Amino acid sequence: MSRAPRPRLPLRLRRPQPWAQQRPTWRDARPAVIADAVKAALARPSGNWFVLGAARDIAPGRAFGRTVAGIEVVAWRDAAGRLVAGPGACPHLGAPLALGPVHCGVLRCRWHGLALDGAPFAGWEPFPAHDDGLLAWVRLDGAGGELPLPQPVLPVRPRPAGTVAAVHTATGVCEPEDVVANRLDPWHGAWFHPYSFADLTVADSPAGGEPSEGLTVEVSFKVAGRAVVPVTARFTAPEPRTVVMHIVAGEGRGSVVESHATPLGPDDRGRPRTAVVEAIVATSRRPGFALARAAAPALRPLMRAAAARLWRDDMAYAERRWQLRSSGRLPD
Ligand code: FES
Ligand SMILES: [Fe+2]
Repeated sequence: MSRAPRPRLPLRLRRPQPWAQQRPTWRDARPAVIADAVKAALARPSGNWFVLGAARDIAPGRAFGRTVAGIEVVAWRDAAGRLVAGPGACPHLGAPLALGPVHCGVLRCRWHGLALDGAPFAGWEPFPAHDDGLLAWVRLDGAGGELPLPQPVLPVRPRPAGTVAAVHTATGVCEPEDVVANRLDPWHGAWFHPYSFADLTVADSPAGGEPSEGLTVEVSFKVAGRAVVPVTARFTAPEPRTVVMHIVAGEGRGSVVESHATPLGPDDRGRPRTAVVEAIVATSRRPGFALARAAAPALRPLMRAAAARLWRDDMAYAERRWQLRSSGRLPD
C-alpha cells in the first residue's frame, strides 16, 4: 500500500540572534523612497469608497454606526440581508439612528419611530454600500472628492472556500497617509516587531518609488522559540487608503493581509483620528489546513490578537509620524 508523501514541514530552526546584532536597515529604508511610494499610493483612485468595518460586524437585526471622514454613517442589513448605509442622523430631529433596533430589515428611530428600509425616505438618502464578503464599504462622494466608482478597488484575495479570515480594527490619532507610510516601510519589520519577524530583507524596491509591482520582502515569521516560517511577501497599494501584503512564496502562499485606513474625523482636541481595519485572509495547500478551517471560530481570535499586537506598535509609528508631519519636523 503506497502512502502519500508527508508534506515537508515549513518550519526552520533559527539560531538565536540578539536584537541589536541584526543588520541595520536604515540605510536601505530611504525616506525619499518611502515618501515617493506614499505619494504614488495617494494619487491612485479610490472612487470615494471607505472601509466601514468587518462585514460580519453588521449583522441582521442590529444597526452599526461609525463616523467616516466626519460624516456620521449608519449601516444595517435590509430584509434580503443586503448591506445598506446612509446618514446616521434621523431626518426628523437628528436622533442617532445607530441606536435604533432593526426588525425584518427595517431600522426604527428610537425617538419617534420613523422607519427606514434602506430606500430614500423623508429626506434621508442612502449612501452607496458594498459588501465584499469580508469588509463593508461605504461611498461618500462629499468626503472623497474624486470621480465616483461603482465599486471599491479590491485587492486579489484567495477563494473564500479555502481560507480562514479575521478582521481586526485599531484606531489612532493620525491620518490615513500615516498608516499607509508605516505599511510602505517594510524595513522596520524585524527591528520594530522582533517578536514576530526575523531576517528581513527587501528584495527589490522600485527605483522611482512607484510601487505598482510592489515591494518584495523576504522574511521569517516567528512561530515559537527558535521556530520560524520563511516566506516571500509583496506589498502593494491598490488605492490611496489600502496597503496589501500578499504571501507570494513559502508557507501560506496566496494568503493576504489587507490594511485599510479609514479617516474618522477630529477628536475633541481637533486632531485627526483614523481607524485601521485589517483583514487577514489565510490559506494553505497543506492538507491539515482543512482542520484549521474547521477550527476557524477558535483561530479568529488568535489571528486578531496577533494583528492587535503588531498594530499597537504600528499605530504608535503612524501617530508619531503624524505628530512630526503636522509640526513640520518629518525628516525628508
Ligand atoms: S428624531 Fe427620529 S423620529 Fe424623531
Ligand atoms: Fe509594522
